[in-house]
Amino acid sequence: MNKIVMIALLLALFLQETKAQQKLFEETEDQKKERMAWWTNDRFGMFIHWGLYALPARHEWVKNQERITDENYQKYFDNFNPDLYNPREWAKMAKAAGMKYAVITTKHHEGFCLFDSKFTDYKATKTQYGKDLLKEWVDAFRAEGLKIGFYYSLIDWHHPDFTVDRVHPQRTDDKVKLAELNKNRDMGKYREYLHNQVRELLTNYGKVDMLWLDYSYPGENGKDNKDWDSEKLIKMVRQLQPAILVNDRLDLKDYEDGWDFTTPEQYKVAKWPEVNGKKVSWETCQTFSGSWGYYRDEHTWKDTKQLLVLLIESVSKGGNLLLNVGPTARGTFDQRAESALNSMGEWMKLNNRSVYGCTQAPEEFKAPENSLLTYNPKTNRLYIHLVDYPLQNFNLPDYAGKIKYAQFLHDASEIRITARYGHGMKEGENPTDINLSLPVTKPNVEIPVIELILK
Ligand code: GLC
Repeated sequence: MNKIVMIALLLALFLQETKAQQKLFEETEDQKKERMAWWTNDRFGMFIHWGLYALPARHEWVKNQERITDENYQKYFDNFNPDLYNPREWAKMAKAAGMKYAVITTKHHEGFCLFDSKFTDYKATKTQYGKDLLKEWVDAFRAEGLKIGFYYSLIDWHHPDFTVDRVHPQRTDDKVKLAELNKNRDMGKYREYLHNQVRELLTNYGKVDMLWLDYSYPGENGKDNKDWDSEKLIKMVRQLQPAILVNDRLDLKDYEDGWDFTTPEQYKVAKWPEVNGKKVSWETCQTFSGSWGYYRDEHTWKDTKQLLVLLIESVSKGGNLLLNVGPTARGTFDQRAESALNSMGEWMKLNNRSVYGCTQAPEEFKAPENSLLTYNPKTNRLYIHLVDYPLQNFNLPDYAGKIKYAQFLHDASEIRITARYGHGMKEGENPTDINLSLPVTKPNVEIPVIELILK
């Protein structure tokens, strides 16, 4: 390697390093913790994907997947009329399921706005329905005591200035055609539109607890922080709503404070995610079935146990779960979503103590067989979730001397602790293990939880 290349490389590394340490805001770690405290405590939220795509009812990306033109997509706008829309019912269902916050698509990639924006006619108030859907939604969810989050798509497949790129419905590999398509499109104008709309959202609806921006795809024929002017955008956001939480899809990962939490989508993280060796705040977003928008003919719905495991496992690794409902074009929840929410609510009603305010258990506690641990640092209680209900004698490896009292969470019935040592230790067990004597019959809850009051 010649010297010049070497120096250039070192310089690049140095610049990258300084950028990583660069900050956009003057906020201490404690202040950030404080700002995020409600979210870290609440753990469980509802995502809502609702837009014109509820009419075709075959994925919120239908415009992209079927390469539909604006002209052919217009029929969904013309027929949009959610006559059964009653967000108070939605909010009640979310609350009954144990969810504490909700995030709704104010605009998805298709560009249609649920809110009354001054900057477009492509919005709910111009449809047959004629009202600001977001306004009603905010009032209803607030009234149920839920925190409010706005999803806003950075992408816009309807705006005439949004350039055709690799994920656009009119995408093409033909460079000449692409240039022709983009000839009159001006991302500068779209950027202004985007900033204006975010300003409206954060000005006209009172306090907004979270902003969920979606998404950047840097690289060839993609879009990144420069296309959105992400730095300017996030500064405006935090100025308008100083306490707001913002997700991580603005392509500002180089800044330590360009985002508040990371958003693994549709997969389980193997462990608590880290950046530069530091554990970071995270929220996984998941669907009941394969699609975010209402999808009539999609049948891969997760069952109650899978959904509860998703929630518990997220908390056991220090994270949140944002679980999605795609309402129908009449404004109702799909029967399947409703029944899934009900079953989760049944479990949450009796067991939410192992979720709210909880996080990953301290290192010294290992999860016993087929179980998931969560821990509440304030009350110093440890929760063992019996994902597969065991036989009567349940071994807790290395727990001796650490427990004051043990009970089931759902009915506060005592679970007797018997020391292992001297009572016929089995292979692989230690004198430091303890034994819980569980009832042979599995209690009548989907996933029973043992609550351990620690010393
Ligand atoms: C994706 C998809 C989208 C969905 C979102 C939720 O980025 O584009 O349809 O809204 O993830 O996380």
